[in-house]
Amino acid sequence: MTPQVLQRFARLDERLEAVLALLHTGTHADIGSDHAKLPLRLIQTGRARRCIVVELNPGPLALARRNVARAGLDNQIDVRSGNGFSPLHPAEADSASITGMGAGTIAGILRRAEEGVLPPTLVLQPNDNPAPIRVWARESGYHLTDERLIDGYWPYPVLRLLRHPGPDLAYQDLPLAAALRYGPHLLREAGPLLAARIQADVLRLTPLAAPGRTAQLELDAAQDALKVIEP
Ligand SMILES: C[S@@+](CC[C@H](N)C(=O)[O-])C[C@H]1O[C@@H](n2cnc3c(N)ncnc32)[C@H](O)[C@@H]1O
Repeated sequence: MTPQVLQRFARLDERLEAVLALLHTGTHADIGSDHAKLPLRLIQTGRARRCIVVELNPGPLALARRNVARAGLDNQIDVRSGNGFSPLHPAEADSASITGMGAGTIAGILRRAEEGVLPPTLVLQPNDNPAPIRVWARESGYHLTDERLIDGYWPYPVLRLLRHPGPDLAYQDLPLAAALRYGPHLLREAGPLLAARIQADVLRLTPLAAPGRTAQLELDAAQDALKVIEP
């Protein structure tokens, strides 16, 4: 690989670096990869032995193929055309990531995965409130083992899930709606980014809330979250 190519893929943006930091794996699948920067860096840093890139759309698929070929990593990164997990065989991947999409879209991709195809480790980075992913994880036998909130254009949540039997104890002793909306680990950590986000929600929702409205339920969750982080 030339120094120019190494330089080109030297560092990812902060949200993808946070995803990278939560992975150390054998075969990794990046679903909706676009530029394939995450799989390239996973291989270059030795954090994955092999990657599978999945892309639905022709433009990003061609870009991924080009970037992988330019980096000379075709033998370790397999670029596949397809929707969600459908191009993967059962138990083929040890881990997977889905990043840079809405939480509802990510949860939909996870729900549509065929039996046996989802790997035991998932690292997910939605661009909006991750509640649909946390709901899916609780219904689907995945525990939330790590959560980060990354400062960027807006605060980017990053979630690490591990398949595990039994109830997820991360939610124990927390108000459920608040934990699903803001994250059980993030609430316990009570960092400044989360505090600012909850306070902004309280300000935004207060004039909209009234009995029976969704805004009231969201405001209740935000106020419960404030009680956790500011006991
Ligand atoms: C906003 S980009 C994010 C790219 C990259 N993951 C990142 O975080 O920078 C979303 C990409 O996912 C692809 N995509 C959307 N839905 C998909 C699906 N169901 N299966 C595979 N790829 C999908 C889109 O074509 C697009 O390239």
